[in-house]
Amino acid sequence: MRAVMFRAYGPPEVLTQAELPAPVPKDDQVLVRVHATTVTSAECGMRRGEPRWGRVILGLRRPRRGIRVLGLEFAGRVDAVGPLVRRHRVGDRVFGFTGFAVGANAEYKCLPEKASFTTMPDGVGYPEAAAAVDGFTTAWYFLHTLARVRAGQKVLVIGASGSIGTYAVQIAALAGAEVHGVCSGRNAELVESLGATRVHDHTVSDFTASGERYDVIFDTVTRSTFARCRPVLAPRGCYLPTTGLVNNVHALRTAVTGGPRVRTGMSVRKHEALAQLHDLIAQQRIRVVIDRSYPLSEIVEAHRYVDSGRKVGNVVITV
Ligand SMILES: NC(=O)c1ccc[n+]([C@@H]2O[C@H](COP(=O)([O-])OP(=O)(O)OC[C@H]3O[C@@H](n4cnc5c(N)ncnc54)[C@H](OP(=O)(O)O)[C@@H]3O)[C@@H](O)[C@H]2O)c1
Repeated sequence: MRAVMFRAYGPPEVLTQAELPAPVPKDDQVLVRVHATTVTSAECGMRRGEPRWGRVILGLRRPRRGIRVLGLEFAGRVDAVGPLVRRHRVGDRVFGFTGFAVGANAEYKCLPEKASFTTMPDGVGYPEAAAAVDGFTTAWYFLHTLARVRAGQKVLVIGASGSIGTYAVQIAALAGAEVHGVCSGRNAELVESLGATRVHDHTVSDFTASGERYDVIFDTVTRSTFARCRPVLAPRGCYLPTTGLVNNVHALRTAVTGGPRVRTGMSVRKHEALAQLHDLIAQQRIRVVIDRSYPLSEIVEAHRYVDSGRKVGNVVITV
């Protein structure tokens, strides 16, 4: 099968096209024929081997064998199932998250039946389904599971035009919150169309000087700090950064000191969020923003674009 591999950390050019043996599903696994996958900021970080401490998991000097084919999100068709598989059948259209196993930048991917994937709603295409998985489920984890956002709250989404951000704006608005976003001016109209009632342009102004106060600040791109946001958080407010080791320390500290809390973590098990996503896309209540689409053969170009930090929503790879 065709796949894209990286055998060393570095720039997009470390990615090479490869011909690998097609995987064979174990007893409890399904084999998915991948039709669409994506390039996310998170896996561009994996490709660069950043942050450096992450190499303890990814491989100290070079990526370990199990992660040399990237690809966190996928949509495709079940091609074969192991004898113990009960939930899925050959021919099912499915979409989901490969997690630490990565591997969706390939024509085929085997996954245990209990992995984070589910059937696709009718009428939704493979590119939209693949591009919805990680951004939506991560935004759901932070806003729903960690912060329990509810009607009447005021929520600020930093990085509102990114993958997690475009879903975060919509999830908070669907919960009945008043949503503001932070992005550059060129993306303000998009972010408003997703449900934000005010947009701060980070290239011309500082949201901390806007006079607004928030119950929740969700920094999807970790461009702010808790120290900067604390003065504009409500006394029982919540700061949600998606990355940063130091934020884990703040989370422990603020759990005992009182005042605004820091909550962070990793969205790994995505079953509940995928079920929500399935229904919301089926009802056309969530919009999937796709910036660009590339064939698998042009994945280096896709990584270059995502590395720019300027992608809007999601970048899709068709397989
Ligand atoms: N904790 C978890 O479970 C988890 C899961 C997945 C991902 N992550 C992490 O989440 C991060 C974000 O991922 P993503 O895919 O959503 O990002 P992304 O799509 O790459 O974000 C790109 C967007 O960021 C905006 N941006 C850039 N600088 C900004 C600034 N200073 N202020 C506000 N917006 C800015 C850009 O908008 P403009 O061009 O308009 O500025 C662009 O549209 C990554 O670091 C990833 O590792 C964490």
